[in-house]
Amino acid sequence: MTMQRDLSGITPSGHLTLGNYLGALRRFVERQHTVDGFYFVADLHALTTKHDPAKHRELTTSTAALFLAAGLDPQRATVFVQSDVPAHVQLAYLLECTAHVGELSRMIQFKEKGGRPGTRASLFTYPCLMAADILLYGAQRVPVGGDQSQHVELTRDLAVRFNTLYGPTFVVPELEPTALTARVLDLQDPTRKMSKSDSDDAAGVVRLLDTPDVIRRKFRRAVTDSEGEVRYDPHAKPGVSNLLDILAALTGQGPVSLATTITGYGQLKDAVADAVIAELRPLQERHDELVADRPELARLLDIGRQRARETSTPVLDQAQQAMGITR
Ligand code: AMP
Ligand code: TRP
Repeated sequence: MTMQRDLSGITPSGHLTLGNYLGALRRFVERQHTVDGFYFVADLHALTTKHDPAKHRELTTSTAALFLAAGLDPQRATVFVQSDVPAHVQLAYLLECTAHVGELSRMIQFKEKGGRPGTRASLFTYPCLMAADILLYGAQRVPVGGDQSQHVELTRDLAVRFNTLYGPTFVVPELEPTALTARVLDLQDPTRKMSKSDSDDAAGVVRLLDTPDVIRRKFRRAVTDSEGEVRYDPHAKPGVSNLLDILAALTGQGPVSLATTITGYGQLKDAVADAVIAELRPLQERHDELVADRPELARLLDIGRQRARETSTPVLDQAQQAMGITR
């Protein structure tokens, strides 16, 4: 029996957050033992909005190091940087020739961000690059947050259309029920998710590379409510419940039963900060080692680059043949 293939990417559009870790990275690390996982740093996707080249380079390197530091094992999973595999861009063009302007215009993310002056053309065609990321590897499952499910749906439509027009070429990925995805909320505004795209000094965003002092300060200042009772109730008490959810995710206990063991908000905040600091310490140490040892980081990412290239080349070839590109 062949293993199921999972694929997911994270765009290095900011320093990764505790949300990225609990909602994505940590799940990849757990799943690498049971699936054939492909996990990549989607560096090209970060060019769809205004960027600074030096910062982009640093974020790409640091994000790749975090993938490895979190425990993704290049011997088990394929861990790579998107721009190391030119087939992504090559297939993206073929999919731009498959997609329609109408359906790309309906993408919620584009509707939200695309109206501004200076909007890059690549922000509009971005779902075609994301479809290429997925279809190149024949991924069956694409674990992503709810805001990305429309793009996975489009990927399915493009795969089916291409297969119908030009002959069976792509595996059509499944649509994952995203409701299960744990969401870490912003500590200052617990009605919205913690986002890596917020400014680097945002007080409500815990970064994976924040120092223990900074992490503790952010949790101490987290918005709660004036009731003073530690109780799990995401609707009435979003701030306190978010802290309980984070603690639950790190301890493996349920948020409701955790609430009964903690008496005050100060105690809760300290407990969460302690758990986060302890969880992140080894990851931060390994990240720093890798970033300081570029040859080792390059060696590890080369393993992924090679495997990604080997896997994607035949699919790109087949798509080119099917579309009538003779070589
Ligand atoms: P993003 O940072 O939105 O590009 O998302 C990259 C990955 O991290 C996706 O799989 C998201 O589902 C996950 N993720 C991002 N932010 C959060 C959050 N606050 N809580 C849980 N998962 C998140
Ligand atoms: N667009 C995704 C995000 O912003 C990242 C991403 C790029 C991705 N390509 C992908 C996720 C392919 C899954 C599969 O979060």
